[in-house]
Amino acid sequence: MAKEDHLFFGGADVVELAERYGTPLYVTDENKLRANIRNYKRTFGKSRTGIDTDIFFAVKANGNLAILKVLASEGAGADVFSCGELQLVKLAGIPTEKILFNGNSKSEDDLREAVESGVKISVDSLGELRVLAAVTDELGKEAEIAMRVNPDVSPAVNPKIATGLKESKFGVPYHEIMSMCEEAVQYRNIALTGLHCHIGSQILKLDVFGEAAEKMMNLVEQLHERGIELEFVDLGGGLGIGYSEEDKKRLPTPDDLAAVILPVLVDRMKSLGLNLKLILEPGRSIVGTTTILLSRVNVVKPAHKNFVAIDAGFNLLIRPVMYDAYHEVVVANRQNERASTLYTVVGPVCESGDIIAKDRMLPEVKSGDLVAIKDVGAYGFSMSSQYNGRPRCAEVLVNDGAVDLIRSRESIDDLLRTQKVPERLV
Ligand code: LLP
Repeated sequence: MAKEDHLFFGGADVVELAERYGTPLYVTDENKLRANIRNYKRTFGKSRTGIDTDIFFAVKANGNLAILKVLASEGAGADVFSCGELQLVKLAGIPTEKILFNGNSKSEDDLREAVESGVKISVDSLGELRVLAAVTDELGKEAEIAMRVNPDVSPAVNPKIATGLKESKFGVPYHEIMSMCEEAVQYRNIALTGLHCHIGSQILKLDVFGEAAEKMMNLVEQLHERGIELEFVDLGGGLGIGYSEEDKKRLPTPDDLAAVILPVLVDRMKSLGLNLKLILEPGRSIVGTTTILLSRVNVVKPAHKNFVAIDAGFNLLIRPVMYDAYHEVVVANRQNERASTLYTVVGPVCESGDIIAKDRMLPEVKSGDLVAIKDVGAYGFSMSSQYNGRPRCAEVLVNDGAVDLIRSRESIDDLLRTQKVPERLV
């Protein structure tokens, strides 16, 4: 088979990658990753916008340590949602002042760890605020906090990934923010320095960001009138990427996001005589396009539909099943062949819903072919599981054709490692 027929990714021949590392295999292009974060940093650079902006990468999108190291080396901060993510970003070398600990259900231990680490904490409820105040007193250590606001805005996205609706579990109801802030500033060891919101994910129509920015600045103004001065506003993540041709047509960029939120922020800050920092928490738009998932075709089965059964299922990529998400699939060893046949690409998991791609035109597929599932860098590996007794797969990082293994393939021993059999059953 001619090499020209092979898909190249990050300068590497993916057919060779699959032979060398086995499948399934997550492959991330380091240059793309750096380009994406640099694009954000350039767009929101202070010299362009007049506003000091920090980019806190949303670690839930991708928690691979090597990838976090790359982002840290580009000056990214981090939005973390658990002590595990906190540990990862500390190991990646992200400084504590650039870490925000988020979460709607933090345990007292989570709060203790966050306070001891000296990171900022986004407080999601009055109950949490009170526990946190007690924890800071007990540790004798001050905590810098932001209030997580539920701004009640409604982006046009899958309801499972809209997070700022008033029905959503995240954040403090908008009308309760003022009284909660007034309580927060009474606590000896709590420093209220910011307001935080996150309205949803895979947002392609950006007007909602302007709406959220307005609502957040209304709160900043009300606090200012009460003599409570903040240092930052965090507008969360959410910028969508072009998964399908349809999405690509209306694909927004960080520049478009800037055009929607900056005028609001600049205007309002000017009229209030304030100079707040802006924090953004992109996840998907930093890592989504950087990664493909390589998977081998086990069998092709002409049945009611033409099924292509591959070795990766929703154990490794749950997005199609969970959100009806679209990911482009190509036959990576014969990518120049004409798409001639309608296929449904399914995984090996014992569930009818284990469908990766429905009704796609592909070149005629044979067992042993290699498929590449595109744009899986966000919420791909990070949402994987060992369901059906399947060890998780390996990940590699490619950089101009050079390849590094950044996560080993799990083994059957890894499935057994934490299991215990009571003596009486041995
Ligand atoms: N900040 C907060 C507080 C968040 O909850 C999230 C995502 C982000 C930032 C990053 O959002 P992004 O820029 O990635 O849209 N698993 C779903 C997405 C869940 C998003 C959860 N929160 C998916 O695969 O589509």
